[in-house]
Amino acid sequence: MKIAVNAKELIVDGACAFVPTMGALHAGHASLIKKAREYSDTVVVSIFINPLQFENKDDLAKYPRTPEFDIELASQAGATHLWLPTVDEIYPGEVQKISAGALGDIYEGVKRPGHFDGVLTVVNRLFELVKPQWAIFGEKDFQQLQIVKKLVERYAIPVQIIGCPIFREANGLAMSSRNERLSENARKKAALIFEILNQAKSYFASKSITETIQFVQNEFKKHPEFELEYFEIADETTLLSAESKEIEKKYRGFIAVFIEKIRLIDNISLN
Ligand code: PAJ
Repeated sequence: MKIAVNAKELIVDGACAFVPTMGALHAGHASLIKKAREYSDTVVVSIFINPLQFENKDDLAKYPRTPEFDIELASQAGATHLWLPTVDEIYPGEVQKISAGALGDIYEGVKRPGHFDGVLTVVNRLFELVKPQWAIFGEKDFQQLQIVKKLVERYAIPVQIIGCPIFREANGLAMSSRNERLSENARKKAALIFEILNQAKSYFASKSITETIQFVQNEFKKHPEFELEYFEIADETTLLSAESKEIEKKYRGFIAVFIEKIRLIDNISLN
């Protein structure tokens, strides 16, 4: 695996599949890299902790950094190029921010104003420098995936965006670097999130959207160690929150929940 700091050193021959990350890599990221290998023998992974998507400077400072481990994981998973750009390379001069519009203000955007603008700005810049034919994003951050797809459509960027299913721990908990911050007990209990999402999926088959939301809220009330921030059901493509079911539409449930003050997110396709 070739390791580069400047995009110039990164020049790849022909088409490549690209996996942008912020490092602290885990098996979820590895699944994206493996997926990328299905598209191309050249797989570029970037690690860049993007200051623009952190509205809280403390979160940026505390973001986990595990470069040696990341190099090993990326290489094992099949990356051929690892790119670790500097802030100056990504943002030389004044930054022209890209707006995520209204889709950036819902769900994950409510408590993080400007977050998705920061994501789009960096993704657009990474695409400019890597010029990938394919780019892989995880369904773990489903809202991000859809907003990136819309960016590519809006600016007619010649890249195909590929979504990759959520990679889970053995107990069903969606893999995240935040899971490391949970106590052993909370990490076991957090399996409940995916269990309730699966129950909600079965429930949704015969019940209304409002009833399904109520069901999830009631289930979490039975477990006071969890604090539910939101559970919402939205049209999968538009991300707009849905009130009544329409045939031929695909719905997805989105959840954010706290346990031991750690905020976890997950989502599930409902039909
Ligand atoms: P990061 O949080 O490092 O995630 C990088 C990619 O890994 C994202 O596409 C994310 O959805 C995916 N991912 C994380 N956990 C996953 C899991 N359990 N299963 C499947 N995919 C998973 O997302 C970002 O970085 C940044 O916002 C970025 C796109 C790099 C822009 O800065």
